[in-house]
Amino acid sequence: MQTHEIRERFTQHFVKAGHEAVPSASLILDDPNLLFVNAGMVPFKPYFLGQQNPPFPNGKATSIQKCVRTLDIEEVGITTRHNTFFQMAGNFSFGQYFKKGAIEHAWTLLTGSVEDGGYGLDPQRLWVTVYLDDDEAAEIWEQHIGVPAERIQRLGMADNYWSMGIPGPCGPCSEIYYDRGPEYGKEGGPVADDNRYMEIWNLVFMEKERGEGIGKDNFEILGDLPKKNIDTGLGVERVACILQGVDNVYETDLLRPVIEAAEKVTGTVYEDPSTERINDIRFRIIADHSRTAMMIMLDGVTPGNVGRGYILRRLLRRIIRSARLLGAKGRTMELFMNTIMDTMTPSYPEIADNRDRILKAAVAEETAFLRTLESGTHLFEQAASQVKKEGGTTLSGAEAFTLHDTYGFPLDLTLEMAAEAGLEVDRDGFNALMDEQIARAKADSRAKKHGHADLSVYRQFVDEHPTEFTGFEELNSSAKVIGLIRDGEQVSEAAEGEDVEVILDVTPLYAEAGGQLGDRGTIQAGSSLLHVGDVQKIGKKLWVHKATVERGGISLGEDVEAIVDPKWRHAARQAHSATHLIHAALREVLGPTAVQAGSMNKPGYLRFDFNYTEGLNAEQMEAIEKITNEAVDSDWKVNTIETSLEEAKAMGAMALFGENYGDVVRVVEIGGPFSMELCGGTHVAHSSQIGPVSILGESSVGSGVRRIEAYSGLDSFQYLSKERALVEGMATAMKAKPEEVPERVAALTQKLKEAEKTIAELHRKQLLSGVNELLAAAENLDGLSFVHKRLPDGTGAGDLRTLAMEMKSKLGNEAGVIVLVAADDRGRVPFVVATSKPAQEAGHSAKELAGVLGQYISGNGGGKPDMAQGSGSDIGGFEQGVNAIREQLQA
Ligand code: ALA
Repeated sequence: MQTHEIRERFTQHFVKAGHEAVPSASLILDDPNLLFVNAGMVPFKPYFLGQQNPPFPNGKATSIQKCVRTLDIEEVGITTRHNTFFQMAGNFSFGQYFKKGAIEHAWTLLTGSVEDGGYGLDPQRLWVTVYLDDDEAAEIWEQHIGVPAERIQRLGMADNYWSMGIPGPCGPCSEIYYDRGPEYGKEGGPVADDNRYMEIWNLVFMEKERGEGIGKDNFEILGDLPKKNIDTGLGVERVACILQGVDNVYETDLLRPVIEAAEKVTGTVYEDPSTERINDIRFRIIADHSRTAMMIMLDGVTPGNVGRGYILRRLLRRIIRSARLLGAKGRTMELFMNTIMDTMTPSYPEIADNRDRILKAAVAEETAFLRTLESGTHLFEQAASQVKKEGGTTLSGAEAFTLHDTYGFPLDLTLEMAAEAGLEVDRDGFNALMDEQIARAKADSRAKKHGHADLSVYRQFVDEHPTEFTGFEELNSSAKVIGLIRDGEQVSEAAEGEDVEVILDVTPLYAEAGGQLGDRGTIQAGSSLLHVGDVQKIGKKLWVHKATVERGGISLGEDVEAIVDPKWRHAARQAHSATHLIHAALREVLGPTAVQAGSMNKPGYLRFDFNYTEGLNAEQMEAIEKITNEAVDSDWKVNTIETSLEEAKAMGAMALFGENYGDVVRVVEIGGPFSMELCGGTHVAHSSQIGPVSILGESSVGSGVRRIEAYSGLDSFQYLSKERALVEGMATAMKAKPEEVPERVAALTQKLKEAEKTIAELHRKQLLSGVNELLAAAENLDGLSFVHKRLPDGTGAGDLRTLAMEMKSKLGNEAGVIVLVAADDRGRVPFVVATSKPAQEAGHSAKELAGVLGQYISGNGGGKPDMAQGSGSDIGGFEQGVNAIREQLQA
């Protein structure tokens, strides 16, 4: 049974039982604790916790959620069941059916006949586990379903008590396993062998709330959830593995074609009995990672050096590397991506619209990596030969770290290359440097934002006091101080001169999001005054004001006024609306593959990053700027509409990332279909309020990503006015009218070129006029003319070469050797050695003689038998060098 059909049957089974089919959420949700969605229940968390009412008529839902787990990336290909991307099919009951219902639903789908829409699994092969003291679940399995007692096993908290690993909903669970038979391992059920008995479905009886703690089995249980719920997760790829009768999750209908593509392009055979298992692992890595990389690119991630972008980069590089180790010589990425997109499109039709973009990004990363691979390999070889020359056996940690940090070499690549060269790598040294770097990055991000910092201090506020944002309607709001945080700790007050993070119940200050920087403003109470220098958001709901107490003090519980700096906000709005116009103009000029990759805007300035592999030309830039300013001039009303995500997409709004099914989203529309984006930012009311927009330039910011920068409003005016002053200055200096400047500059450049040419010719003539004199002064060594001369200080290598060439050609059929040096004022001693043909025939090689000279003037050189050049650092050794050469010529 094909994977697509396994999905369909799952959905139908639960829709028939009154569940609402909910589409998969994006892999990227705005949750500070999660890099990627990693379970089907993640988008439903607020319903389990009772924070929101589930918007499903029967209180029941079903979904097939895209999931990414990269924690066990090293396991991929080694075990039979680890995918970094997988699809979790789930059914969810919010206060409706509980254990019995969940168990019945699962059993009927798994064992129901194929004709009736089930999976047709043999009930004799199914085993289940329940939580230690969950007699209720055990009894349902045994009495109600009829699973024999010996196939019901009990496991502890680490296995059969499920939570997200962080505070949130949790509860005991019951897992269903499929016995793959004795060829996969020993008898004895899941407790004995989890390879033979493959877990396929986890039924979580979600009834408790988990508190702080560590890991899977060491946390506090805070109490009961408002209702008893069900959360389940069936591993679609594992069921496919069983129903397709294949050995592991990398050989199912979705991934096998990638393995086959890899066989073709590498010329290596998968599961070749004569090769080692390691090759099979590489094939599986290619298949698994190609899919994960493609799916996260589909959800908008581009390769980068931090966070999600780094994970993507790592996946792509592991693919490229595995392919090379299997013998691929050229490029492979396009083939792998096309193959996986073909197999995944039936289930994810949106891939079709994003194919070009995904391909471009993946191929650009491949190009970049192949390039670094080349220069990194060069560096590696140098380092390795140095180690060997010194008689060592270990490549230093610093070297491995440079390869990682500068050339993007994963450590295991360095390890393998070192092993091939018969060397070891100082892993401890490498790890110490990595730790230092991570600590630095953490400190940086803590100082700047909440990026990777410990968020636990905010958690209680996120859950209990989500901030009410009033800043779309007003710039001043009365508020209460409900939290004060200093250095990651809660405090009850802050005094004059201190920095403090302030949490208010209500605020008009915009928190950084969607590329727009946080507002600046003040918090005031009586005579106390706090300056707010930044506002950051924790999750979607908590605003944190980073403030300095300028005057007086502030205490918990105090009533305050929160005030946005109106000038800041005015210019911030202009910049953000201008960003939308530029985005729209860009797509009009470049087409829909120019997808947004990031943006930043603050008063007066904006930058916009987008996926595009080529640089933009002057006409494209001009067109983008013109369309943008025409849109400003059209004085369009800027409309904001609050609606559901589905509705917004239907309207044609450009959905970016991190939105969730059922979310109320805000659509910002300027000029109807011209610009319609999901956006929570602050905007002008009419497009003309943006003022002029001037584009500063365009540049590359990493592989396949370009950046446009622009000024808006008064800053744009100031920029243009400076430009005008510059042009006027130039015009005055040239005694021309401003519009004549380009022509004049062109004419001047031309003149200058001609003058330079004349000077060069004169210089050459002057230089060569000394040739005859030099030749006349040659020593005669048994019929061989030996010219050696230190030329005036400052004579460059180029001139030395010109002179030597001229002399060599003048010598013609006469045997001659020419050695010229000079010294420059930085202590360098360029030199040239040339030999005429008869001299070469007599066994005198310029290259060899250059080596002799190099020894005396502390330098080295290289070249060919007729002409060599180089550079030394000790002109004092020239005489001796000449003597040594003479000796050699006479030998
Ligand atoms: N939430 C449960 C899991 O991820 C179903 O296993």
